[in-house]
Amino acid sequence: MGLFSRNSDAMMAVDISSASVKLVELGKTRSGYQLKAMAVAPLPRDVIVENEIIDSTTVSRTLKDVIEIARPESKNVVFSVSGNALIIKTVAMPMMSELELEAQIQFEADEHVPYDMADVYLDFQILGPSEDGAEMDVVLVACKRDVINAYQQVIQEAGLTAKCVDCAVFAVENAAAALADERYGTLAGNGEDEPEVHVHALANIGANLINMNILHDDNMAFVRDQFFGGNQLTQEIQDAHGVGFQVAEQMKLENFSGVDVVAVDNYFNLLGDELIRTLDFYAVKHADFPVQKIFLSGGGALVPGTAAQIEERLGIETKILNPFSRIKAESHQFDADYIQHIGPMMMVPVGLALRSFDQ
Ligand SMILES: Nc1ncnc2c1ncn2[C@@H]1O[C@H](COP(=O)(O)OP(=O)(O)OP(=O)(O)O)[C@@H](O)[C@H]1O
Ligand SMILES: [Mg+2]
Repeated sequence: MGLFSRNSDAMMAVDISSASVKLVELGKTRSGYQLKAMAVAPLPRDVIVENEIIDSTTVSRTLKDVIEIARPESKNVVFSVSGNALIIKTVAMPMMSELELEAQIQFEADEHVPYDMADVYLDFQILGPSEDGAEMDVVLVACKRDVINAYQQVIQEAGLTAKCVDCAVFAVENAAAALADERYGTLAGNGEDEPEVHVHALANIGANLINMNILHDDNMAFVRDQFFGGNQLTQEIQDAHGVGFQVAEQMKLENFSGVDVVAVDNYFNLLGDELIRTLDFYAVKHADFPVQKIFLSGGGALVPGTAAQIEERLGIETKILNPFSRIKAESHQFDADYIQHIGPMMMVPVGLALRSFDQ
């Protein structure tokens, strides 16, 4: 079960994250992708902490719940990993075939991955010739075995078969490339004032982390999972209103206009600082390629005003991506308004579900 291995099985996507378990199953027709099954079920706090499963019984029960609600056709699962257990690095290596690289990769990884090689699953993908043309760029991915095994186990306990695993940050990229709406398409530009290289950032803001991916002309240049997310806003609401997590979370989702404006402003300040820090970090190696546009997704993008606030604080045009703008959903099966509303939060599972159609 490789991280990048091509796949042609029909699979449902399961995104087991800290705030919820999300399920998406897609079909492909001649006119494009179609939503076949979808469900989201919340997870109590502390069931998944820093992307490690703490309470596997609750996770597999919640997984069974989403299966019950969504009734997907397939029993095969593609799931995602993110956070500290995952190391993603682009390295320059001498030109060689994929087969040769397979024999070499362990030694190369040993230099870049701070974990014992016996404790990680390794995978790689050849990107192409490096900038100077003499070598080739290779994306190296290492993920802790015990983390992947824990995900596989809850999937098995729910009566399903884990077929494929991907990095959440790549799932976002996949969804953006395949499905993003017209606004994303405008990246290609209209010929006037065309920058030589289009540089854009995909920031998927979850409950506890941001999957950040910066692309140069659609090629991955920088990835990072940083610990910050919607939970920070919940915390600000807790502090401002003197309420517990659950009540604050509910206020955020159901009565946002009643939330203390200073709490919201604090959150946007921290979010802005966090993103600026990441862009600064990116600029260390890529000073000549400043980010021209930011595309947001994740539940954190549903906080009213987020795109405008980021645009203002970073001075970079910022838009929200909705993968469902290009996926057909039958109105007798799905509530169109609901689908459009939660769309940005479904980027990871949609990107994972697209793996069913790998060529
Ligand atoms: N309508 C909404 N308005 C404001 N915030 C929202 C809304 N819907 C979801 N959120 C927030 O988005 C976050 C959940 O987003 P998401 O589902 O992308 O995270 P996750 O994948 O479970 O978490 P992570 O990947 O960080 O572990 C929560 O903090 C939640 O409060
Ligand atoms: Mg997530």
